[in-house]
Amino acid sequence: MQQRAIPKTYRIKSFGCQMNVYDGDRMAELLAEKGLTPAAEGEDAELIVLNTCHIREKAAEKVYSDIGRLVKHGGDKPPMIAVAGCVAQAEGEEIMARAPAVSMVVGPQAYHRLPALLEEAASGRRAADTDMPANAKFDALPRRRRSGPTAFLTVQEGCDKFCTYCVVPYTRGAEISRPFADLVLEAERLVEAGAHEITLLGQNVNAWSGEDDKGHAIGLDGLARALARLPDLHRIRYTTSHPNDMTDGLIAAHGEVEKLMPFLHLPVQAGNDRVLKAMNRSHTVESYLRLLERFRAVRPDLAISGDFIVGFPGESDAEFEDTLKLVDQVGYAQAFSFKYSPRPGTPAAAMDGQIGAEVMDERLQRLQAALNRDQMAFNQASKGRRCDVLVERRGKKPGQWLGKSPWLQSVFFEADVAIGDMVSVELMEAGPNSMRGQPVA
Ligand code: 5AD
Ligand code: SF4
Repeated sequence: MQQRAIPKTYRIKSFGCQMNVYDGDRMAELLAEKGLTPAAEGEDAELIVLNTCHIREKAAEKVYSDIGRLVKHGGDKPPMIAVAGCVAQAEGEEIMARAPAVSMVVGPQAYHRLPALLEEAASGRRAADTDMPANAKFDALPRRRRSGPTAFLTVQEGCDKFCTYCVVPYTRGAEISRPFADLVLEAERLVEAGAHEITLLGQNVNAWSGEDDKGHAIGLDGLARALARLPDLHRIRYTTSHPNDMTDGLIAAHGEVEKLMPFLHLPVQAGNDRVLKAMNRSHTVESYLRLLERFRAVRPDLAISGDFIVGFPGESDAEFEDTLKLVDQVGYAQAFSFKYSPRPGTPAAAMDGQIGAEVMDERLQRLQAALNRDQMAFNQASKGRRCDVLVERRGKKPGQWLGKSPWLQSVFFEADVAIGDMVSVELMEAGPNSMRGQPVA
């Protein structure tokens, strides 16, 4: 590689989960400290960071074609390219070997070293770091200085569950919880910078554990209660939870902590116990439903969200029907559903009974139809409710604004407001993906 100047402008393209969005924000802060500025819209950036996702589909192939496009578009002045995120972690060496245009490969636990890697790349050496030291990254990141009205805060990372279809335990490593004091400090900084809503993030966020300032062992509910004491923080959310890490304390908190929003994302993946066992989910349909009942007992208006996989190896027609039955029973306010995608190196990828594309498509369509129907029903049932909406951005029409209801519905309305305001509205009309609100005094 040739020596080249440190780039002056950057663009970060984040794919995949909210944790990647958080990581992308933090990489931007690191690059800003190094003197780089974000490339303006429409302008070519001198550094491109591809912050990749490996959870489904041909993620790696997509990265190579993105790289190819960037090189072609750059002509004789191609951008410096960094590959970050879970594809970098899983396939760093192959990327270095296959894509000479890539100057840097940096894993999700090592991106605090991005500035150092940048120096190395500028001096003409291709640089890679896919080490996984727990928490080192967070200690090395700069202070939070900017935030919109809603912000993400990673509190927990990694996964020890080893669901048989999933790459996360391999790309994000073992479960770690960030220390309480660090999280309170980062939340305070985010609030000072303008955040009114914080979503606590983790692959198994409800497995978070720590010690509060008095040395007492606490779980996610204790953390939420502590953050709820920040006066200018109005809303707390968290995602993603695992059924087996759910605690009495967190359930109780939903009935007691007003700032904890009435929304629960609790993936179930499938509605049949044999399939759940083959997935190594270690919960049953029954135990999942019981959990939801307990939540609804303390918070009857709770909106429930989930993740589903159709076409797991060996899933029979009847077993798939069980998933539809579960959906009918729960009444999801929203949910994500995916076709099973074999991930290299995971146990399920080597299982017998891989499902063909046609069956897969048909199952996904039927599941999504059911989920869309329930989402619409949830929105319909919200009509007439009065609630606060946190204003996030302007809508498409002049005078129109967009924000979220407590139940995470997108709400648009017309009023004389500004981004970051909390506005009282009555929910008037329901669409499949949004609600129209009318401001009330
Ligand atoms: N194929 C399809 N979906 C997957 N997910 C995770 N791994 C796979 C896979 N191999 C889904 C799960 C998880 C969500 C983040 O992505 O539903 O909850
Ligand atoms: Fe993947 Fe299962 Fe861990 Fe979720 S709990 S990240 S699906 S292994």
